[in-house]
Amino acid sequence: MITATPPGHSAATPESPAPAATGFPTADQLARWDREHVWHAFTQMEEYEPLLIERGAGAWLVDTAGKRYLDGSASMWCNVHGHRHPRLDAALADQVARVAHTTNLGLSNPTTVAFARRLVEVAPPGLEKVFFSGDGSSAIEAALKMAFQYWRQADPPQPARTRFVAIGEAYHGDTLGAIGVGGVDRFTAMFAPLTFESIRLPSPGGPCPATGRPAPSLGESLAALDRILTEHVGTVAAVIMEPLVQMAAGIYVHPPGFLRGVREITARHGVLLILDEVATGFGRTGTLFACEQEQVTPDFLCLAKGLTAGYLPMAATLTTAAVWRAFLGTHAERKTFFHGHTYGGNPLAAAVGLASLDIFRDERVLASLPPKITRLQAHCERLARLDHVGAVRQCGLVAGLDLVADKHTGAPYPWGEKRGTRACLAARPHGALVRQLGDTVVVMPPLCITLDELDLLLDAVEAGIRAATA
Ligand SMILES: Cc1ncc(COP(=O)(O)O)c(C=O)c1O
Repeated sequence: MITATPPGHSAATPESPAPAATGFPTADQLARWDREHVWHAFTQMEEYEPLLIERGAGAWLVDTAGKRYLDGSASMWCNVHGHRHPRLDAALADQVARVAHTTNLGLSNPTTVAFARRLVEVAPPGLEKVFFSGDGSSAIEAALKMAFQYWRQADPPQPARTRFVAIGEAYHGDTLGAIGVGGVDRFTAMFAPLTFESIRLPSPGGPCPATGRPAPSLGESLAALDRILTEHVGTVAAVIMEPLVQMAAGIYVHPPGFLRGVREITARHGVLLILDEVATGFGRTGTLFACEQEQVTPDFLCLAKGLTAGYLPMAATLTTAAVWRAFLGTHAERKTFFHGHTYGGNPLAAAVGLASLDIFRDERVLASLPPKITRLQAHCERLARLDHVGAVRQCGLVAGLDLVADKHTGAPYPWGEKRGTRACLAARPHGALVRQLGDTVVVMPPLCITLDELDLLLDAVEAGIRAATA
């Protein structure tokens, strides 16, 4: 059990009780209603055990019984500066005092415009146009549709370019287009008949789940991409990938040079490149955007999650002036991008996103990361010695630890034993909320986590792993 006082940076630390609301349901009632009414994402509801988080500050969350947990999954990979950061809270309050929402369909507002401008300033050079939507999947859908439409309207048009190349075990979200380019079978196989088929490039970041064979080398992967684009000449609209690390695949870390190589090959074949930085963006890999590490500017950059530091749903698809120009024309020419979402560009989210970028700058967030990344690495090396921890992969401030039945052969546990889930549940009494990807335990805390908190988090993760693999 963790008893240290959280260094929450908000006046409302997790210890401060929530104001008593007369007539508000009790924690027990809420837990019952949660089970009765709420259909949780990616959750087998027959097995679901409610845990209601009521408050948070910094890297800590507090449940309705007052128990504190370190937020080891950054509230589903999106929290950046911690919960209840005073500047984010203030930005939100300030914006709500002006207006909560106006549409961006043919209309604008000062906060969203200012945020778009800041995004362009911090994004890789050449990405000048910002299309706002509501979540990561929507950012991907927009990029896929823009890439598809771009080729129909390019000069000269190339309407045969309708296909997408995606990396094996890719995850780009759950909407139909996103699962068309997705490759985590347990998420997508059910819905395959509803969507389109992508061309698959084996991931150079992880073993092939079907065969258990090691990942292809950098050279093999790039040669395979070159071959695919040669074989499918004139029919590929875009290659889509997560740069540096594929998160939901199981924290598959790509070999250095892969992203750079993909950019060079796509450019040579005249194919667009979509980078999905929904999970890697906003500092997770050690730089603001992962693609900076290989000096790559994509044709589309998809952002969400950390875009608002984990406060509000918002996503953005950034693209180049060259793509944008293909959509210009008179109304009669029908070149408009007929796609959009009610809350796209929401000013509350934009206000928080702007404040988050200010925090990155003023609190030198990126400069604070190297010691944390090193400390996480030291913990990973320690945990890698546990009897049932197989491969451990880390990129920046995220790590995945594979739980295996046999450390020497790497043989997995039977799927139904849910060892990954059990390890994460067993870490809760020790004060950590972490999530698994199958039998891979993922550690992905908010960037604001301190070194002491990282120690506490990884100790709790170790306790969970030991309990689930004993
Ligand atoms: C790389 C990546 N792309 C897209 C998505 C989808 O984002 P959202 O859940 O906001 O739709 C996710 C979500 O985890 C992701 O990790």
